[in-house]
Amino acid sequence: MCRNLSKYAIFFLFLALSGLIFLLRNIHIVENWNCRTISALYQLQSQVHSSFLTRLPSFNENQTFCAHLGQKPSPEDELEERYLLDSIEWPGPPPRSTPLSLRQTSDPVHSLFTILPNNGRREWHVGEQLEALVQMHDFQGRPKHYGGDLLLARLHSPGLGAAVAGTVVDHKNGIYSALLPLLWVGSAQVEVTLVHSSEAVAVLKQLREERPDRVFFKSLFRLGFLSETTVCNMCLPADQQPLCNYTDLYTGEPWYCYKPKMLSCDTRINHAKGGYLKHLITNKEALLFQSGVNIKVQIHASGADSINVLPPKDKFEEESNSLSPDHIQLTPSGYYFEDSWRPLGGVLMRHFDEPAAIALCLRNKVINMYGDSTVRQWFEYLITSIPEMKELNLQSPKNVGPFMAVDINHNIILKYRCHGPPIRFSTVLSSELRYISNELDGLSGGPNTVVVLSIWAHFSTFPVEVYVRRLRHIRRAVVRLLGRAPGTLVVIRSANLQALDQEVSLFNSDWFSLQLDMVLKAMFKSLNVLMVDAWEMSLAHHLPHALHPPPVIVKNMIDMVLSYVCPENSSLK
Ligand SMILES: *[C@@H]1O[C@H](CO)[C@@H](O)[C@H](O)[C@H]1NC(C)=O
Ligand SMILES: *[C@@H]1O[C@H](CO)[C@@H](O)[C@H](O)[C@H]1NC(C)=O
Repeated sequence: MCRNLSKYAIFFLFLALSGLIFLLRNIHIVENWNCRTISALYQLQSQVHSSFLTRLPSFNENQTFCAHLGQKPSPEDELEERYLLDSIEWPGPPPRSTPLSLRQTSDPVHSLFTILPNNGRREWHVGEQLEALVQMHDFQGRPKHYGGDLLLARLHSPGLGAAVAGTVVDHKNGIYSALLPLLWVGSAQVEVTLVHSSEAVAVLKQLREERPDRVFFKSLFRLGFLSETTVCNMCLPADQQPLCNYTDLYTGEPWYCYKPKMLSCDTRINHAKGGYLKHLITNKEALLFQSGVNIKVQIHASGADSINVLPPKDKFEEESNSLSPDHIQLTPSGYYFEDSWRPLGGVLMRHFDEPAAIALCLRNKVINMYGDSTVRQWFEYLITSIPEMKELNLQSPKNVGPFMAVDINHNIILKYRCHGPPIRFSTVLSSELRYISNELDGLSGGPNTVVVLSIWAHFSTFPVEVYVRRLRHIRRAVVRLLGRAPGTLVVIRSANLQALDQEVSLFNSDWFSLQLDMVLKAMFKSLNVLMVDAWEMSLAHHLPHALHPPPVIVKNMIDMVLSYVCPENSSLK
């Protein structure tokens, strides 16, 4: 008994001493002793608090994405949403009776593709399309009998700097057609890649629907010397702790944080990425995500993997030998030739190799960029490419912004601001947390205004409905902007492919991005905006996929934007 007491006494003495040391170490920072004491105590408390951040909310299946929150969609919106969700419906493996075993899943090494003859002949002409049949096999070499694998296909001629993205059609029986448009003369090689097996996609799909909390966010609350940090997300289970409701008044976009214990909800200072959850998948599921085994591995050809493309046939011959109507006619958004992107439809590509040409094109323009880091890349490209462009120091946090640059001589203003939550940037001040649609409502617009939007990468951990809702708000704001200020140039940058390993796949897989990208393109299709197809530009290109594509791809994207802003004949007007 006595010995126990003395043990406790030593323990308390140790606590008191460490508290004193902690206080003394902080003495020089604060002027007033009383405040200092309080401050140090609360710092200690909030540190204790922060370590509790790992105690995250537990979701049940009905509370995952708060679809019921936000503005109520109109009946047309609901119809569109249903259509969009149907259009990205992804086939999955049939329900299994035995436990999942890697051996029965798609294996790129055992799988093969075959270039099919063209109407019975091994002869191809520009203007036609090539079809390669892919037969998937499992790790035991047995053919697969269901679809759902994520495959990519491209056709390229390295010597010509030519390449184009293909379309993959899932026949849902283990066989896929890779369709490749033939757009140039010469030898061309087919490349087919398995990104994820259908079994892996099924895991990703389940994560997307059930674990939108797998990336979590946090906010710092502060008033005077009090500070606390709590967990935030688009949707938080309400039954566990009181919430602060930061739902946007204009759009109804939901956002919540747990209410700090001592502070009120108005004391939120910032927003930041909290972290990524671990142990999301079982050990067995982890086998489906192995770099070099079943993540982004090329599939070999059973015979030749290249063809020789001949010049276009003449009109008469073409008609008599045309493709059967059940063939999908491909509409790639463009292709590379001599390493530069040639968009098909709309923009006539110009090249802005001279820095002075960029400045002349953007003279008198205000370029407003909103979105994630993939458009911040464009901002950075333009600042370094325009000689007289000077970035102002707005005291913004690095990589977060907002940023602004000006070229006084050419009267160019360049601005960048990140999109609203969910955003996984390091620390964004609450006062700088804005939704794109609200920002667009604050623009006067006009022919000297260019708006550039890129919003995709931070939505991959949420169900697609969340993205549809966000794009709906942005699209409405774009329609209002184009209505009140015709001539405003709006550019949308689509999603791109990125480097994947197991960890990245669970949060940012290309499968998530592809689904979002299809929604994005469908939702902005009928609007008078320029879509820069970053997906096809990164898929067709020979350089490795990267979240932030290499400069050569960015240059092509910027050239396309500038060609849209300053078409060839614009100087004649
Ligand atoms: C989810 O909702 C369904 C239907 O509303 C209900 O039957 C089910 O019990 C709910 N599940 C949980 C975990 O609350
Ligand atoms: C949060 O606020 C919005 C807008 O005021 C409201 O519609 C929503 O129901 C609130 N959420 C909760 C959980 O109370």
